[in-house]
Amino acid sequence: MCGIIGYIGDRDVLEVILEGLQRLEYRGYDSAGVAVMTGDDLEVVKSAGKLSNLRDKLRDRHLSGRLGIGHTRWATHGKPSETNAHPHRHGNIVIVHNGIVENYLELKRSLMLEGHEFYSETDTEVIAHLIQRAFDTGYDFVHAVKIAVSRLEGSFALGILATSEPDRFIATKRNSPLVIGCGKDEQFIASDIPAIVNYTREIKHLEDDEIAVVTRQKVVIYDRNLEIVERSSHNVTWSPIMVEKLGYKHFMLKEIHEQPRALIDTIMERVDKSTNRIILEELENVSELSQVSKVVLLGCGTAGHACMVGKFLIEKLARIPVEVDLSSEYRYRDPIVLPDTLVVPISQSGETADTLAAMNEAKGRGAITVAICNVIDSTIARSADHVLFTHAGPEIGVASTKAFTTQLAMLYLLSLYLGRKNGKLPLEHEHDIVLGLLRIPPLISSVLDRLVELDNISHRFFHCRDFLYLGRGINYPIALEGALKLKEISYIHAEGYAAGEMKHGPIALIDEHMPVVVVAPMGSRTHEKILSNLEEAKARNGKVIGIITEGDHSTPQFCDEVFSLPLCAEVLSPLLTVIPLQYLAYSIAVLLGTDVDQPRNLAKSVTVE
Ligand code: AGP
Repeated sequence: MCGIIGYIGDRDVLEVILEGLQRLEYRGYDSAGVAVMTGDDLEVVKSAGKLSNLRDKLRDRHLSGRLGIGHTRWATHGKPSETNAHPHRHGNIVIVHNGIVENYLELKRSLMLEGHEFYSETDTEVIAHLIQRAFDTGYDFVHAVKIAVSRLEGSFALGILATSEPDRFIATKRNSPLVIGCGKDEQFIASDIPAIVNYTREIKHLEDDEIAVVTRQKVVIYDRNLEIVERSSHNVTWSPIMVEKLGYKHFMLKEIHEQPRALIDTIMERVDKSTNRIILEELENVSELSQVSKVVLLGCGTAGHACMVGKFLIEKLARIPVEVDLSSEYRYRDPIVLPDTLVVPISQSGETADTLAAMNEAKGRGAITVAICNVIDSTIARSADHVLFTHAGPEIGVASTKAFTTQLAMLYLLSLYLGRKNGKLPLEHEHDIVLGLLRIPPLISSVLDRLVELDNISHRFFHCRDFLYLGRGINYPIALEGALKLKEISYIHAEGYAAGEMKHGPIALIDEHMPVVVVAPMGSRTHEKILSNLEEAKARNGKVIGIITEGDHSTPQFCDEVFSLPLCAEVLSPLLTVIPLQYLAYSIAVLLGTDVDQPRNLAKSVTVE
């Protein structure tokens, strides 16, 4: 999705903006631009392509100022081009936008009938015209923005400058992320915290349709009736260093290696060390959780795969029926929400439009919502009835890794908690799972030390154009996740399948050109079944890559390559089996030379439908 940065203060605004845009690159983009208040005018410089193109153009312009906005564009309306790049200008108004104005064509036609002319194909330019139009009818800056955005349908996060306002700018939002960073005699706005964490960790959030007037000294927030709102700020715990690569070649590799730490940070504060019991203080006063009759897990992509693992965990540990649905499907399915239904939207960014909409759909039908998010103050986190934050730290790589395993960890904790609340989980079983969970981070560390063994497998198969991933039971979602990792960063076609489905179709795909990655840990009730799946694949000359358990001497005979994992209980195995699949995808993508942290066409957070 698009990235927005805005600044007012004593620093060189161009330096702040370009650094902020660079930290937002992970969101994915195809063009970029800046606007700087130089003296009494606004200068706009834009370019198609990467930030380096913009820097080249700026080198000849010597823009200097203390107020400005910047934008990285991920095209929604209008092709990627310099003309369609933001900021967009009309009259005295210059604007950057993240989101989609769903009624922009109707507004554009109406403005054109009044004689307005447009130079771009974007919905954003229409907003600039609406604000200028209100200005021209005598409204002041704040009222002009208020009148303009009140006509918009859809989603927007806006940074707005006006040539008549050299000492302030405006930010406003609806269904699109925007944070305000507060400093001493300097203020920031950004689509995401990493863009400004180098300058401030004091953050305020905006509610939908609030308008922030930002000057050097302060930020004044108005509600939709233009009444001033008091909004306290809070300190984010993310440090600048956390958003750096720390010597790793890619953020994704760093984040794969951060998983032991992320899991410890997510689990430890929720375990009573004296009793080895789960503590979820966030839910302590939610009495309804002791009579939950059904759980609905909602997510997209990797978060959707976490939901599928969550189904196994909640049904096994709390004996509550679970429905899993993709957010984009649930929101339009006219879902039936029975009394005592707990809906759990899972979202790393907390900004995924489909998951937010699906959650609101469920809330509107009477469900209790407990979100699992990784970003404090994100829209989903603030909109849910309750929220459980994973502590993975900022996940910059578009391909989700540590966010996924910490989502799983949180699902273990929630399952144990629900099982205790409804009396279905014996105390000793809770202990066993908790102790097993606590042993996972060091087991992952031991796996991370051996990941280079997978490089040999990558070198052998990186040229293949199709991969098949197979898993059963609680590791079926892990097969799906492994396939998603490979396809999203290497652009190789990869399909995840339930291994039991082989004879129902995918076996037709298998030949000597088809690597088949099989998640086959020991200790599974279906391990024998998976062995026969391996035999079927081998019998058709498939190239089998087995993710197996140390000490398993039967599976390797059916594999061309193996990677072994430490033994652990089947119910905990997804936390381990996903690790080599994450790295296998990474290693293959590096060999192919793709943009691992910002793969083509993808964004870190899909804040539009
Ligand atoms: C996973 O690697 C992808 N980045 C994508 O599928 C992602 O999981 C999905 O867009 C959901 O994002 P969220 O967790 O921020 O809601």
